[in-house]
Amino acid sequence: MKNSPHFGFTSVQARHGNTELGKNASIASFLAQILRNSTSRSKFVFIRVNSRLIFRFSPCLRVKPALRRSRSVVCLLLFAIGCHRPPAGEPLTPRAFGTQLVEVSGSRQVAGVGNDLAQPVVVQVNGPDGEGVPEALVSFRGEGLTFTPAQALSDSSGQVSVTVRLGAEPRSYTVVAETAKPDHTAASLELREIALGYEQKVGKEVNDQFCIRCHDSESTRERVSNFDNLSPSPHAFSDGAYLNNLKDADLINITRHGGPALGKSASMPPFGNTLDDKQITAVVAYIRAVADPPFQTSGVKYGK
Ligand code: HEC
Repeated sequence: MKNSPHFGFTSVQARHGNTELGKNASIASFLAQILRNSTSRSKFVFIRVNSRLIFRFSPCLRVKPALRRSRSVVCLLLFAIGCHRPPAGEPLTPRAFGTQLVEVSGSRQVAGVGNDLAQPVVVQVNGPDGEGVPEALVSFRGEGLTFTPAQALSDSSGQVSVTVRLGAEPRSYTVVAETAKPDHTAASLELREIALGYEQKVGKEVNDQFCIRCHDSESTRERVSNFDNLSPSPHAFSDGAYLNNLKDADLINITRHGGPALGKSASMPPFGNTLDDKQITAVVAYIRAVADPPFQTSGVKYGK
């Protein structure tokens, strides 16, 4: 079996306890050596293929020769199973093809750098009729992101769910999901996720405590939104189309001194006596981080 083209090995290694049993020898000869050697049966035998541990067993039982033979058959069987398992990273084979990928849930989440997003990203493969396509292959990529799993076949409703871990840099990340169409071109979908650095996380806490009840139109079980009672309406902090045009100094100014400081309504309260300067710059860093479309930092990085 050495370098057997059938198994595609490049290296087979076996070790009994600390004794190297040889490299690239045949598996049968390893087993013969182990079973012949009755003195050190209490040690484990390790067999590696391409440095991957295929299996480990202890030949510690004293067995009759007939049983030994059947044991080696079992071992060989296990070994063969080990070899036939596709190595991690080998592409899955799709059994169906869709024509479109749509988001089910999970984009625009905000989490600390290096953390998993709280919710999985769920996408659906649809056919030309708009119905979900099961068993289509969906793969995920995105610079700086880690996906578990990086590819999967869609379930019975055509959906694939992936856990996304954010990178170490506080910024916006793009998730790209892809599926092959029947003509072998790809249908893809891009989603955005946001990683907050330390300062931006402080800013998020300020927002959650002092701003969100007016600046977010959604109510939750814990908090009733005040948004609908306000006229003119405040902007959501994710409204980059509007907020990206305001300078940092303006955002700081209106937060500290209230709406009239920017010629706006006094229903935007002043926070200069409630928040210190660090909290105010932190909430501005948070507003920049969640802006959609993204705020162009022109070289200035927040949260560093
Ligand atoms: C009681 C409601 C309320 C709270 C709480 C509140 N705001 Fe506002 N905010 C407003 C309203 C209303 C406006 C819009 C004023 C206008 O357009 O004339 C506004 C406007 C702003 C603006 C200018 C951009 C825009 O949305 O028009 C910024 C920046 C801002 N708020 C930041 C904050 C920050 C930061 C906090 C928390 C520290 C906060 N606000 C808390 C009501 C509120």
